[in-house]
Amino acid sequence: MNIIQFRDLFRDTLSSQFKIIEVDFMFKNILTSFFKFNPTIIALDPQKRLSKIQISKLNHSLLLIKNDCPLQYVTGKSFFLNLEINVDSNVLIPRPETEELTLWSTKSLTNGDKVVDLCTGSGCIALALKKNNPSITVKGIDKSERAISLAKKNSKKLNIDIEWITTDIIDFHEEKSSLDFVISNPPYIHPSEITNIQPRVINYEPKLALFTPNDDPIFYYKHCINFANNALKKGGKLFFELNPIYYKKVENQVLKSNFSKVKIKKDFMGKKRMLSAIKS
Ligand SMILES: C[S@@+](CC[C@H](N)C(=O)[O-])C[C@H]1O[C@@H](n2cnc3c(N)ncnc32)[C@H](O)[C@@H]1O
Repeated sequence: MNIIQFRDLFRDTLSSQFKIIEVDFMFKNILTSFFKFNPTIIALDPQKRLSKIQISKLNHSLLLIKNDCPLQYVTGKSFFLNLEINVDSNVLIPRPETEELTLWSTKSLTNGDKVVDLCTGSGCIALALKKNNPSITVKGIDKSERAISLAKKNSKKLNIDIEWITTDIIDFHEEKSSLDFVISNPPYIHPSEITNIQPRVINYEPKLALFTPNDDPIFYYKHCINFANNALKKGGKLFFELNPIYYKKVENQVLKSNFSKVKIKKDFMGKKRMLSAIKS
C-alpha cells in the first residue's frame, strides 16, 4: 500500500466520526511522529510505498482512533507550551487551560524560587516552569509511580532538572516556611459530573487523575492548601487550576487558611478556571 491509499483508508474509516480536515490532521501527525516523515510527503510523494512494519503501525493506529482513543495516546506525544511532552495512559493529556495557568503563574516567579508542583502527572507544569525560569528549583510530586516514571523520562529527554517524588499528597510535607511557590492542577471532577464528560476521556484517561471522592469535591484542594499553608513562606504564592463549578468552595477554603489577595481568573472559554493567593 502507498501513502495516498492509506490516507484514503483513514478518511473512509473515520469520516462518520470526524471531519475530513481532522482525519487528515491525525494521519499527517501519525506519519510524522512514527516515521519522521516530512509533513509535505502526502502532497509531494503520494505514491511512496509503505513497509510492512509501517502498514502494521498505521493499521493499529487507525483501530485505536476508530475506538475513540485520543491522538496523543496513539502517538505518545503532546505539546505543552514550548515543550514536546511524552504521554501514555498513566497520565492526563495536558490541557490548554493548564498552559494558561502555567503562563499566568510564571509571571509571579522570581530568581531562585523554591517551587513544588503537587499532582504533577506527566510533569508538564513543573517542566515548563523550570524550562522558562532556569534559576528556580522544582519538585514534582504524584501518587502514581507510573506517572512519576514518565515525568522522569520527560525531564531526561528535555534535559530539565527536576526532583520527582512518588507520594500521596496526604503524606507529603516540606519544612515549615521553606517554599516560595506552590502550584497544582489536582483531580477535580466530581463523580456526579460523569455524564458530562466525553467517553474518550472516561475510557482512556486515568481515573486517578480525573475524579474526586464522592463525599468531597474539593478534597485534593484541601490537602494542597494544608500543605501550602505550612510550607510557604510569608508572601509565598499559591496557584490552582479550578473546576469552575466548585471555584467558590476552593476560594472560601483558601480564605479560611492564612492566605490573602485571592484572585480568580477566567480561561479562554470565559470559565473561572484559575486561582492565585498570597501567604499572609
Ligand atoms: C488532573 S491530573 C494533573 C496532571 C498534570 N499536573 C497536568 O496538569 O496535566 C491530577 C494528578 O493527580 C495525581 N493524584 C491523584 N491523587 C493523588 C494523591 N492522593 N496524591 C498525589 N497525587 C495524586 C494523579 O495521579 C494525576 O497525575
